[in-house]
Amino acid sequence: MSVLVTGGAGYIGSHVARILSQSGTEVQVVDNYSTGLDSRVLGLSSTNLELSEPIAIAALEQIMTTHKVTAVIHLAALKQVGESVKKPEEYFLKNLGGQANLLTAMKNTGVKKLVFSSSAASYGVPDVDLVSETQSPEPINPYGQTKLIGEWMAKNAEVAWGLSQVSLRYFNVAGAGWPDLADTQKLNLIPIVFAAIKEGTTPKVFGDDYPTNDGSCVRDYVHVMDLAKAHVAALDYLDNDSRKHDVFNVGTGTGSSVLEVIQQIKKTTGIDFKFEIAPRRAGDPPKLIADVSRINQVMNWKADNGLVEIVESAWQALENS
Ligand code: WQD
Repeated sequence: MSVLVTGGAGYIGSHVARILSQSGTEVQVVDNYSTGLDSRVLGLSSTNLELSEPIAIAALEQIMTTHKVTAVIHLAALKQVGESVKKPEEYFLKNLGGQANLLTAMKNTGVKKLVFSSSAASYGVPDVDLVSETQSPEPINPYGQTKLIGEWMAKNAEVAWGLSQVSLRYFNVAGAGWPDLADTQKLNLIPIVFAAIKEGTTPKVFGDDYPTNDGSCVRDYVHVMDLAKAHVAALDYLDNDSRKHDVFNVGTGTGSSVLEVIQQIKKTTGIDFKFEIAPRRAGDPPKLIADVSRINQVMNWKADNGLVEIVESAWQALENS
């Protein structure tokens, strides 16, 4: 009996794989290693595979059958918003084509449990500060569209052949559960600012004229360890026959502004670095905070960590790297 984690060599996927493995669950990792790292999955059974390739269905069926896979946690996907606008075809092929192959392999081998990695990007720019799952999703970029369509694909499989599925809409994930699993890409605020500190360049705050307390954008930063534990809770939830919901926000329910994150980074690092106020970035909603009442009540999951632990763990990981 094992759990297949696609994207398991990635920043988030490797935290999910390690937490499952350390709890005694046999884990099979599949990753195309485009951004995943071998070093994150040492000691785990892993296969280098691009899910959108035609050969992926047979390869996945082989893994599922041989290792008696009972559930899949699907995280493998391209995830850069800006890149998705420039390369929409690649995002639809890789993210949706890969998921279609995965669902086909699951159907053919009778694997009937799926936890799907979705995103707050599926909401687009909601006109509410606290976003609940009842908010109508209106993604504004191909990346967010692939996440919403991915949720629909999972729902269609449930209707067509009885897949039990939940989608987790991640808000802003950061931090490190273990230094060797840290986020090594510089694509999001906290790693970008850390990189600027290390390189001696000046980090930018994209806009300070938003309708927020200090004028900078507010986001819901969730520790990657808490997020990984939400996946374990979601697997347990799939064993529950009376499932009322299949989409869950994963966040803390608390917002932090860009300037507040900057101040926390100064406090954690002890470095009073300079930053500059730059023009707004297109597509940035002023506030995006998760209403987490559904996952709190239904799965009894809540985040244990806040911004301080997120920044401290990420900085310690960088310092140890
Ligand atoms: C956070 C805030 C920026 C960099 C994205 C995806 C979302 C999810 C998380 C996958 C924003 C500001 C950033 C910088 C800045 N990913 N910022 N200076 O855009 O909230 O969400 O990552 O699921 O889908 O959209 O994250 O870290 O890019 O930005 O001022 O150098 O920090 O404007 O307000 P975002 P982010």
